[in-house]
Amino acid sequence: MSEEAAANVDMEKLVSLCRRRGFVFPSSEIYGGLSSCWDYGPLGVELKRNIKDAWWRTMIQERDDMVGIDSSILMHPRIWQASGHLEGFSDPLAECKSCHQRWRTDQFEGDHCPDCGGELTETQMFNLMFKTFMGPVEEAANTVYLRPETAQGIFVNFQNVVTTTRKKLPFGIAQIGKSFRNEITTGNFIFRSREFEQMEIEFFVKPGTDKEWFDYWLKECLDWYLKLGIRKEHLKLRQHMKDELAHYALDCYDIDYLFPMGWAELEGIANRGDFDLSQHAKHSGKSLSYYDEESKEQITPYVIEPSAGVDRAFLAFLCDAYAEEPDKDETRVLLHLHPDLAPIKVAILPLSKKENVARVAKDLYAELRHHWVTGYDDAQSIGRRYRRQDEIGTPFCVTVDFQSLEDGQVTVRERDSMNQIRVPIKELKTTLTAKLSGEDLFVLPPGGQIWKVEKGG
Ligand code: GAP
Repeated sequence: MSEEAAANVDMEKLVSLCRRRGFVFPSSEIYGGLSSCWDYGPLGVELKRNIKDAWWRTMIQERDDMVGIDSSILMHPRIWQASGHLEGFSDPLAECKSCHQRWRTDQFEGDHCPDCGGELTETQMFNLMFKTFMGPVEEAANTVYLRPETAQGIFVNFQNVVTTTRKKLPFGIAQIGKSFRNEITTGNFIFRSREFEQMEIEFFVKPGTDKEWFDYWLKECLDWYLKLGIRKEHLKLRQHMKDELAHYALDCYDIDYLFPMGWAELEGIANRGDFDLSQHAKHSGKSLSYYDEESKEQITPYVIEPSAGVDRAFLAFLCDAYAEEPDKDETRVLLHLHPDLAPIKVAILPLSKKENVARVAKDLYAELRHHWVTGYDDAQSIGRRYRRQDEIGTPFCVTVDFQSLEDGQVTVRERDSMNQIRVPIKELKTTLTAKLSGEDLFVLPPGGQIWKVEKGG
């Protein structure tokens, strides 16, 4: 059932829509592109920002046991020694002696090139961290790394946050930011790239309560995707096998999503034990322990880490929202994006370019822009304009017509049902606020009249 649903979302179609409508462009395109790097266009940047805002609101703002930070991308190189990344953050790499393509040998069976069948070189471990130099002298002593995860910026600030916020266990520190990995194989659009964004939480708990918190976070993370509209049957939890666990993990589950290329990791939730705080305390010589008032002892907290990829969430939300519906002789393409995620919340569409209609429409546009990202489109037929908004997931369109000049009302058309209702202009903001927050379409506005509900384009 779910496999069929995935086949419905073709990656090529999605990539083409993203390109055509300004969600995602290949990076450095006018120079021929740069492998596995992507630029987010005007609509993409809104969707991405909405994903991050929704995550921040749920995971930090609405909780009293969570705070955020924004640590630097370049950090002291000894951090990566302590964290184990210098030694262990590697993938097995081999090169084909015939076509010279490089492969991750843990990703396929057999010992020949998956492309041309050529003989492979011996497998070597390849460290995935990008290196650069701090300062003008390019020598080994000045090597620094672009962070491969945001997590370490949190661990090394643990004591700063405890001291400044006086948070008590259990509590979490969250961060959203760029990470970099010199992946051997990339692909599947924005699924695996060399520069990407992560939304990570390090949730510090008393040792012994970690299993319970681990289960708690599995559910919280899953619920976040469900609440924002991802279908249940497109998500599953997958526990890591012992030999698959990262060097720091006591236990780990992936939330897998049914992407067009199949089930693949959307987010990882790991029990990191006290590995990171202990390692940093050892390597820095600074205490990273926590005084537990209950037991009157210094303890090293355990950490539960939900780690999500912004770009993968972006892809999953788009895949799940994509739909094609028959519409007379044509096909209506639409994105059923949750209103919180939709790049444009409302579009103003004047039914005439005549000055008096346009003026009312422009005034509405100017007013609504204070509250939401608002679109304005007066080009071509109204049917085409609706289609353009459907294709980018705009939940509501507002049309202004000649009748609006007489009765002070406009038509609000809803994306998914295509239902239309007449709303007094002075109630428009209240109505849209209610509808964008998910209230029933047919609820009366305060002091409102019974709206005419029509089905139509
Ligand atoms: N701090 C733990 C950590 O980084 P991870 O499983 O390596 O764990 C977490 O990464 C998430 O980051 C993944 O579930 C994925 O969403 C995202 N991610 C990792 N590598 C990525 C890549 N090359 N491109 C895009 N997203 C990536």
